[in-house]
Amino acid sequence: MLIGVDYYPEHWDRADWGPHAKLMEEGGFKVVRLAEFAWSKMEPREGKYDFGWLDDAIGILRKHDIKIILGTPTAAPPPWLMTRHPDALVVDQDGIRTEPGGRRHYCYSNTAFREASRRIVTAMAAHYTGNPAIVGWQTDNEIGGPKCWCESCARAFRDWLKARHGSLENLNRNWGCVFWGQEYTDWSEIPVPRDKHAAHSPSIRLDHARFHSDLVLSYHDMQVDIIKKLCPGHFVTHNCMGFYNEVDYTELVKKLDRVALDFYPGVNWGEGKDASAAHDYTRSLKHAPWMVMEQRSGLTGWLEMFNPGDHPGQLRLWTYQTVAHGADAVVYFRWRTCRYGIEQYWHGVLDHHGQPGRRYRELSRVAKEFAALGDRIEGAAYNAPAGILINPEARWALEIQKGNKLFDFMGHAQGYHRAFAYHHAGVEYYTPQDDFSPAKVLVAPALFLCDSALAAKLEAYVRNGGALVLTFRSGVKDGHNVVVNDRLPGVLKPLAGCLVEEYDAPDGKDEWKTDLLSPLPKKTVRAGTWCDALRLDGAKAIARYATGPFKGAPAAALNRVGQGFVVYVGFQGDRDFNRTLVRWLLAQRDITLPFAASEDVEITERTRGKERFLFVLNHAAEPRKLSLPGKGGYRDLLTGQKMPRTPTLDPYEVRILAPVSGS
Ligand code: GAL
Repeated sequence: MLIGVDYYPEHWDRADWGPHAKLMEEGGFKVVRLAEFAWSKMEPREGKYDFGWLDDAIGILRKHDIKIILGTPTAAPPPWLMTRHPDALVVDQDGIRTEPGGRRHYCYSNTAFREASRRIVTAMAAHYTGNPAIVGWQTDNEIGGPKCWCESCARAFRDWLKARHGSLENLNRNWGCVFWGQEYTDWSEIPVPRDKHAAHSPSIRLDHARFHSDLVLSYHDMQVDIIKKLCPGHFVTHNCMGFYNEVDYTELVKKLDRVALDFYPGVNWGEGKDASAAHDYTRSLKHAPWMVMEQRSGLTGWLEMFNPGDHPGQLRLWTYQTVAHGADAVVYFRWRTCRYGIEQYWHGVLDHHGQPGRRYRELSRVAKEFAALGDRIEGAAYNAPAGILINPEARWALEIQKGNKLFDFMGHAQGYHRAFAYHHAGVEYYTPQDDFSPAKVLVAPALFLCDSALAAKLEAYVRNGGALVLTFRSGVKDGHNVVVNDRLPGVLKPLAGCLVEEYDAPDGKDEWKTDLLSPLPKKTVRAGTWCDALRLDGAKAIARYATGPFKGAPAAALNRVGQGFVVYVGFQGDRDFNRTLVRWLLAQRDITLPFAASEDVEITERTRGKERFLFVLNHAAEPRKLSLPGKGGYRDLLTGQKMPRTPTLDPYEVRILAPVSGS
């Protein structure tokens, strides 16, 4: 279990480096990430490299037994580079070339920029390959945006289209360019779709999203290849941002050794229990333990302070929340709050003055606990009986064309994650390429794009005993983002055992309700955003509309296929519905979750062989009671004490429990 900090020695006097490293060592921090914005210091003039200062900083850290993760510095190109190559600055969709002076303002297709990136990454990797303090690398920083509308990107987009469609004839047919008479006669006629130009077809937009992602990947993979070739003994990772999707993370991680997340509870991806969906998604990218490369360690803000501060105990709680979801290393952003630049209010472990305070003490406590845990938990698998299937391309397509402005695809998917979390059932995310068989229950929310290969794979999953949930807006489009020439849910009809007779997208003014029918518990729930009136074709109705134009029509259906079953839910249900359906699904799969705990207590499980580790996290600011099952009881790994049967958890308390043999 590694624990450390993101550190910028270049922001401080050399005289501070020694005391910083000493304080880190005393605090128990074992690793630092360095250099990911230090291009201008490592290559102050084109082709003139200076690693001396970084060698010195690393040397000091090494004396204090601290390992190093190096970041490639390409997110923040130096002013000399952008001045020499102004065409490497990104052009926004209004045609305005961005100004330098920050970061993430480079164009991924610019040859000079790519070449300069290749040189600095090569120089760094060649210089540091033999340095014994280095354990790994982080590529760039939170890569993905921005999209660029420059001439070079337009050429690259058209070349990409040529490779994908083969000929203009195919492209015109695939996209249906006959609509509004937009058939192209030359590749140069194809526009680069601007997000704000509402009239573009969803087909060109989806291809543009794919193109941009591929362009980012080609730039990113170039860096990974260099590091892997020159530094075969070091791991390579990237700091991802949860559900961010300007680049397809499922592709990005393929060349990486591990996946990392930047975790800012309350700033991105929710807080409390909700934040854990991003943890599950990050772990699922490789279905393996992962690491946190940046975790919030204080107040956050840029020009203004825009988030409430943490309460004592929360930094520790957030750390264990990541471990509870499979993280094996946590690095805090940042060591000491910077006196300069836009991040003056983005607080670190230490305040601007550099004296240790409450946050340093809290995180040192965690570091010491990590040391005491040793490798006991490291590498343990996350127990996830539930699955959520997300096809990244279908997500792009639904985000391009949500249909109802009240509809939010990720909100819909998260609704199911929340319901599983409510019942303390772990969730793994799946992509169409994955093996679904570990999921005892698989929810595939709004599978907008679905081809026959994925439909066949889902059918095999169900026939072999899987429980699948399909929802509205499934099987609607082909791979070109064109509506299928079929009744919905298209290729998924046989599996669903029902057809969509009509659909509607309620605007929220009238309340739509559905009555749940046997075998679901009888109750009435709210429905919204997208509603399908179903016609049964082998399936049994398990919900009917109670109000609105579809009153009386089936709203959800249950279809038994082989040894498994499919539930088609033709509406976006409310929180009560999601919890009710998920409870029923878990019961069908004999997943008994014996914990009696309040809603804001999070419980997860990691296992290694016969060993089980239960993580119990109280996200509430008040004490919460918990009832522990089993005969033999549990021992707390952090305190070594045997737990009472109904312990009270203090506010923000963390427990890691191991069953005493026999329980
Ligand atoms: C992250 C980023 C860091 C730092 C932090 C605070 O998203 O990776 O470099 O900028 O936000 O703003």
